[in-house]
Amino acid sequence: MAAKNEIKRITTNTLQSMKENGEKISMLTAYDFSMAKILDDAGIDVLLVGDSASNVMAGHETTLPITLDQMIYHAQSVIRACNRCLVIVDLPFGTYQGNSKEALNSSIRIMKEAGAHAVKLEGGEEVQESIKRIVGAGVPVMGHLGLTPQSIYKFGTYAVRAKDDEEADILLHNARILQDAGCFSLVLEKIPAKLGKIVSEELKIPVIGIGAGMHVDGQVLVMHDMLGITAEFSPRFLRRYLDLYSEIKDATKQYIKDVKSKDFPNEKEQY
Ligand code: KIV
Repeated sequence: MAAKNEIKRITTNTLQSMKENGEKISMLTAYDFSMAKILDDAGIDVLLVGDSASNVMAGHETTLPITLDQMIYHAQSVIRACNRCLVIVDLPFGTYQGNSKEALNSSIRIMKEAGAHAVKLEGGEEVQESIKRIVGAGVPVMGHLGLTPQSIYKFGTYAVRAKDDEEADILLHNARILQDAGCFSLVLEKIPAKLGKIVSEELKIPVIGIGAGMHVDGQVLVMHDMLGITAEFSPRFLRRYLDLYSEIKDATKQYIKDVKSKDFPNEKEQY
């Protein structure tokens, strides 16, 4: 028998029901134990251990340098913190594009070593065989189309994708392929809201947007952007809920002042 106040874990089935019932899905990224604990406690539906860790945690310019071992380290920390939300982990660049066996092996490492609940990978038609193989092994897969940061050197820019009809048609075609290959959900990044609406109405699986407008089935933001830790990144789609960059900086200045002035520690703050 379940304990009285046992927390019900969000699963891929929960997300599917949310789409069917018109309940929007909330998703954020997380990379460490302490932050993941707060976000899970707040009731977030999904945490993504994104390869954006390469940018916001490691300070790289792109998502390309982060390794599978590093992603597993971040994922282990997040998993240890979460009681309720679904935790999805990005397959980093270079760990799945080679062939479906490589994709499966990388996914298995993430599931076994980190205890993740699902993996995410970028791309359309070219990754369909890999998706089938990973899903065939029992691992849920989330797709990612539109602006796919692992292909930034192919795009040459972080501008909005699929603005013209030709690219929009290709995106819709790829979205159908990902659903047919077995993806349980799909992320659409930085595309026109009109196209986000078409894709989420067309697909049966939940579509989560980041800069894909209001009509998709859920929203995801990079936690550091949403909390205002990354002060210089201000795309139109971003809503900042805090200005933590300034708050942390001000608190640090105050701490420095208190140490220098011998105000800290005081009588009560020592043994
Ligand atoms: O790595 C990441 O943070 C992502 C989100 C932008 C969806 O893939």
